[in-house]
Amino acid sequence: MSGADLILGIETSCDDTSVALVDRGGRVIACETVSQFDIHAEFGGVFPELASRAHLEAVLPTVDKVLKAIDSDTGRLRAIGVTRGPGLIGSLIVGMNTAQALGLAWGKPVFGVNHLRGHLRSPDLDEKRITYPALLLLVSGGHTLLCHMTSTTEITVLGTTRDDSVGETYDKVARMLDLGMPGGPALDRLARAGRAVHRFPRPMIREGYEFSFSGLKSSVARMLEKDPDVDRADVAASFVAACLDVLGTKVRRALGEYEAKSLVVVGGVAASPQIRDLVGEICAKTGVQPCLPPLKWATDNAAMIALATWDYVDRSEPTDMRTVPSMSLAAW
Ligand code: KG4
Ligand code: ZN
Repeated sequence: MSGADLILGIETSCDDTSVALVDRGGRVIACETVSQFDIHAEFGGVFPELASRAHLEAVLPTVDKVLKAIDSDTGRLRAIGVTRGPGLIGSLIVGMNTAQALGLAWGKPVFGVNHLRGHLRSPDLDEKRITYPALLLLVSGGHTLLCHMTSTTEITVLGTTRDDSVGETYDKVARMLDLGMPGGPALDRLARAGRAVHRFPRPMIREGYEFSFSGLKSSVARMLEKDPDVDRADVAASFVAACLDVLGTKVRRALGEYEAKSLVVVGGVAASPQIRDLVGEICAKTGVQPCLPPLKWATDNAAMIALATWDYVDRSEPTDMRTVPSMSLAAW
């Protein structure tokens, strides 16, 4: 296959420098991700200024590495897609500037892409998995969203979080339990060794599609303060049980109200085996098709940004190249 059949995707919104080449069908020709894990671990969270510097060092060598897969033949590129938000402003600017410079040098159009639209498209990487209409649950470090979709681009947001996101809550509770970084996966592992014997609150579970997780987080903090010797695995298991109960209840409610052929769960927390089990359970009961990205595409990566860029190419609207730290799923 020749011609301009690939998108070069660049993702630098947080602490991973990622570059990928993806065709229109979602086939990933190459994807390279440089993690900044070692840089931020000692701070217990992402240090924004260090993140931008690390992106600056990593981004061009990563582009070079990925281009080797096509013998550096930039004639194969239809466009460049780069995350313009949401994310850390300094980190986003590194990606945006790099993409625009490369676009100018190679004579290629450059599209600023909404990172959330990247997550949304992630289950269609490697093979097409989403069938429409679909119910979408996006659970990442920055977002918690429940949406109804009739196509990749027609999305109705049913509810979002009033305070912390699920991923953020996992990370904060992991910190309380001294689990180090990355918190989410460590907490998830510890939870599997414990029993859900504590009844933590399930905020806003009774109605609607809005979420709130800060009360749950505070309740875990209070328990650890009151009883420092409490079994930590049991606390983790009880916390995860509360999260899953809230997410599962809202998803079941939405499946009762909205027509859906598939249940799409994306974002970093979709890497959690417990969430995956929950999705399997709900789908087995309702007959809806489970639709999860392969593990490697659940957390931040440039392949999903490249795939989402095809939607921008097809849209034929002028692209917005402003860098935005916070952005809704509806924005392009
Ligand atoms: O989507 P993502 O990579 O970055 C954002 O766009 O925010 O999501 C990162 C979030 C973090 O909060 C991380 O703790 C969580 O996803 N996460 C997990 C797991 N892997 C990543 N949470 C629970 N279990 C996991 N296995
Ligand atoms: Zn993300």
